[in-house]
Amino acid sequence: MNILVIGASGRVGSELVQQLLDKNHTVTGTSRDNKPLFDNPNYTHLALDLTADKEAVARQVAGNYDAVYFTAGSGGKDVLGIDLHGAVKTMQAAQLKGLSRYIMLSAVFSLDTTKWTLPGIDQLKDYYIAKHYADQWLIHNSRLDYTIVQAGALKEREPTGKIAINNDSAGENAIKDVAATLASVLTANNTIKKVFSIQNGDTKIDDAVATVNK
Ligand SMILES: NC(=O)c1ccc[n+]([C@@H]2O[C@H](COP(=O)([O-])OP(=O)(O)OC[C@H]3O[C@@H](n4cnc5c(N)ncnc54)[C@H](OP(=O)(O)O)[C@@H]3O)[C@@H](O)[C@H]2O)c1
Repeated sequence: MNILVIGASGRVGSELVQQLLDKNHTVTGTSRDNKPLFDNPNYTHLALDLTADKEAVARQVAGNYDAVYFTAGSGGKDVLGIDLHGAVKTMQAAQLKGLSRYIMLSAVFSLDTTKWTLPGIDQLKDYYIAKHYADQWLIHNSRLDYTIVQAGALKEREPTGKIAINNDSAGENAIKDVAATLASVLTANNTIKKVFSIQNGDTKIDDAVATVNK
């Protein structure tokens, strides 16, 4: 498949691109820099600034992509400009270009405001507000075939290849397992128009993804 990964220089995004390339997909990856991130004939680099105006973002999302991933993020520095408005501009661009599949990396409990007082999340209120409305926009204002994957705290630890889904805790995730979950979603049509959370767990990733909303 021909895939766009927005945020390809990030911890999750770079791992996702590598896993997609390993599966012989053709990948265009974005960061703000012009410098290509991967030395692979199936990789194309695109310098994309999510704070650019809507038309500029739309002009750059020019390929005939089978799927768009959003793994970019502000790291807390410009949550409105990047996590909310930046994300929505890419959804609008995807829709304008007639693309349908859009896979969003979000955060556990992004849509459940009652959980925002939990320790850890309570420190991230502005980020959560931004992700909340970005996810809401994707679900209610777009016609995209979305999947929203809500990760717990990202940890740079050895992956297990196993996860739990929707276990109602904030949880933690090995970064490579998050990337593998995102990669698995690509061919799991049962995840279209679905939102699910992931935590470290005991079920093989493909098997866990296959149970989404069953
Ligand atoms: N941290 C957690 O525990 C946690 C938990 C759950 C969910 N998440 C979600 O997971 C996402 C990915 O996390 P991560 O650790 O992989 O992120 P990361 O390493 O900080 O990477 C962020 C990515 O966003 C891009 N970016 C930042 N500002 C941009 C801009 N103005 N225009 C275009 N691209 C921009 C960066 O590209 P440049 O190279 O241009 O900087 C980079 O590719 C987070 O953003 C968050 O929404 C995080």
